[in-house]
Amino acid sequence: MRMPAIALASKMVGRWPDGSPLTRCPAKPDPSLSDANDFGFWEEDKAGLKCPIGAHIRRTNPRDHLVTERTQKDSREMAAKHRMLRKGRPYGPPLSPELDPHTLLQRTEDGEERGLHFICLVTDIRRQFEFVQNNWVNFHKFGGLENDSDPIIGNHYQNERRKTDSFSIPEYPVRKVLTDLPNFTRLKGGAYFFFPGIRALHYLLANG
Ligand code: HEM
Repeated sequence: MRMPAIALASKMVGRWPDGSPLTRCPAKPDPSLSDANDFGFWEEDKAGLKCPIGAHIRRTNPRDHLVTERTQKDSREMAAKHRMLRKGRPYGPPLSPELDPHTLLQRTEDGEERGLHFICLVTDIRRQFEFVQNNWVNFHKFGGLENDSDPIIGNHYQNERRKTDSFSIPEYPVRKVLTDLPNFTRLKGGAYFFFPGIRALHYLLANG
């Protein structure tokens, strides 16, 4: 049976449009949980039946269920080393100002320039942003998967050596696998900037 579009989009992200995490409310959004961040995957959703193993938030922050680590504690410690402070900024007129998913689905392409500046603050660009992008977002075998990459921001392609354009949704008794995913994110450019550290900011404030 086909899954409603918003439920499928939420499976890909790992959160409902209101922010509530699928791990805590898999069947429908729960606005009281829209800021919930205190959850794990190991105890609550080892098989990914609530939040798929390859969902965007599970790949970019695997929390206590990093399959390369032996224990939940090791996993949490390892995942913490790769975390980043994100501050996304949309640009261009929104397709629908209220950002209601149902309204968005009615809209058609209008030729306006719009998109998202993905901005993250890190202390070590290789360990944080680049590691997450290369080893978790784009890895086709992440968490025991086979031919998937991040459904939202991964590069989806097929060549003679590799396929990365599937999205697996664990279900009981049989998982669902979507194939031939197009690329949903088009990268227009990128830049790394140095930013003064806290000590430098204090110095500038005190001596400016
Ligand atoms: C078009 C590009 C992107 C879109 C539309 C997008 C969308 C989202 C959404 C909807 C969430 C869930 C809400 C939240 O937790 O804030 C999220 C979380 C997150 N994203 Fe992205 N994202 C994008 C690019 C990236 C990139 C390039 C990275 C890093 C390589 C990244 C890393 C993260 C992380 C670390 C989280 C939080 C996971 C968690 O702690 O639960 N995202 N993103």
